[in-house]
Amino acid sequence: MGISRWIPRGEGESAPDEVSEAVVEVPGWSELERQVAECTACELHRSRTRTVFGVGDRAARWMIVGEAPGAEEDRRGEPFVGRSGKLLDAMLLALGLARKDVYIANILKCRPPENRDPAPEEALCCAPYLRSQMALLKPGIIVAVGLVAAQRLLDTKLPLARLRGQIHRYGDTGIPLVVTYHPAYLLRAPLQKKKAWQDLLLARSVLTES
Ligand code: URA
Repeated sequence: MGISRWIPRGEGESAPDEVSEAVVEVPGWSELERQVAECTACELHRSRTRTVFGVGDRAARWMIVGEAPGAEEDRRGEPFVGRSGKLLDAMLLALGLARKDVYIANILKCRPPENRDPAPEEALCCAPYLRSQMALLKPGIIVAVGLVAAQRLLDTKLPLARLRGQIHRYGDTGIPLVVTYHPAYLLRAPLQKKKAWQDLLLARSVLTES
C-alpha cells in the first residue's frame, strides 16, 4: 500500500533518543480509489458487487464515517444511499449541509454478507484506506456514526453511551472526533434523535470555535 523508508545510521553514530515512525506515502485520491477498487486483501472481495470508496467534497471540513456498505450501497457503489442514508441526509440538512458538502466513508469498503458486523481482520485490512482518505481530506471534524465506527476509530470497547457527548481525537492526528448514533438505529429508536442532534451540534461547535 504505501512505501516506508528507513535511513540506516552511519558507523559510530549513536542511536537517536527517539525512534521516528516509518514515513508512509499517502497515494493521491485517484490512485487510492483504484487501489480500493482492486483490493483483494480480505475475503469480502469475493462477495461484493462493487467497492464503496466514499463520496462527497474532497475538501470538506466534515467527515462522516459509518460502518460498512449495505445491500443498496453494494449495488450502487456509494455509501449511505439506502434508508439510513436518507435519514443521514436529513440530519445533515438540519445543520444546513447538503450531502455534497461533506465527505462520507465507511470503516469497510465492501459489504459484509447478510450485513453482519465487520470482522476485526476485515476492519484491519481496510483501515489504511480510511487513514489515507483522512490524510488527504484533513477534515476539521470526524463524526463516527454508530458503535462499530466509534469503537474502531477510537480503538476502544466502551459502549456508545460512554463515547457520546465528548470531543475525542482521532489517533495521533489530533483531528477532533464526535460519536453519535447510527441512522439505522435512529430509524428503530426515533426518540434518540434528540440526542443525535445534540451530538451534531457538539461537532459543529468544534468547527465554529476553530
Ligand atoms: N450503513 C453504514 O454504516 N454505511 C453505509 O454506507 C450504509 C449503511
